[in-house]
Amino acid sequence: MMLNDTFTDDDAAELYDVENPWDRVGFPHDRFFSDAVAGAESVLDVGCGTGSMLHVARDEGHAGRLVGVDPDAAMLKRARRRDDVEWVLGTAAGLRYDGEFALATMASNAFQCLADEDDLRDSLVAIRRALRAGGGFVFGTRHLWARAWEDWNPADGGTVTLPDGRSLRGWHEVERVEGPLVTFSETVARPDGTPLRVSRTTLRFHVPETLNGFLRDAGFAVEHQFGDWGRGPLTAGSREIITIARAQ
Ligand SMILES: C[S@@+](CC[C@H](N)C(=O)[O-])C[C@H]1O[C@@H](n2cnc3c(N)ncnc32)[C@H](O)[C@@H]1O
Repeated sequence: MMLNDTFTDDDAAELYDVENPWDRVGFPHDRFFSDAVAGAESVLDVGCGTGSMLHVARDEGHAGRLVGVDPDAAMLKRARRRDDVEWVLGTAAGLRYDGEFALATMASNAFQCLADEDDLRDSLVAIRRALRAGGGFVFGTRHLWARAWEDWNPADGGTVTLPDGRSLRGWHEVERVEGPLVTFSETVARPDGTPLRVSRTTLRFHVPETLNGFLRDAGFAVEHQFGDWGRGPLTAGSREIITIARAQ
């Protein structure tokens, strides 16, 4: 919900980049994905957002086919500032590729946006279909049992400054937890706390057993699962489930 027109969808996409710069040196998550992309001759990045991961891949010399897909027009508009990658407005479930990619990725927990079970299943089938036999699917999701949302509350709101000098405050508020589905609002406000925009999101959290069932049903075999971005083992106490799956 936009409360006034001084904070637009384009501003929200710019804020995303300010808060989430792609940095393969500083962030183990970004290194994990950038290494996977560098090792694949063609890559489909599902939920690519502003496209930073694929921008960096090109900067680092990736010479193969790179395609980014996202349903958020403002995020994709930022991605499109570079035309050396194919950008597609759409959802995972709407993908119509057939056997074209060596690797599919969903970085920065984009996988958790697949909240509805039918949409999750349809998305996995479409991603599987987009891959060649033996192609990889690399993604992360937060582990349900770690209950990360308990740390998301209005007190977490820090202040950030956009490149044009505007200072903004932001915070999260959890509204509902129903099994694996967590609904929360995200508020962007002026430094004095006056809200400019409130958006509501539902994310699906996962446990390995059901996640692996969804993957199997869509034609994937799980090759590796890690509990952190340093490739540590997946345990009952892990905060993340990091999966490398193969198209069968
Ligand atoms: C947290 S952002 C991650 C963006 C990017 N992957 C990154 O690493 O910065 C999640 C992205 O998933 C996208 N998304 C939401 N629902 C989706 C769907 N059904 N299919 C594909 N992408 C989706 C959102 O628009 C958003 O850009």
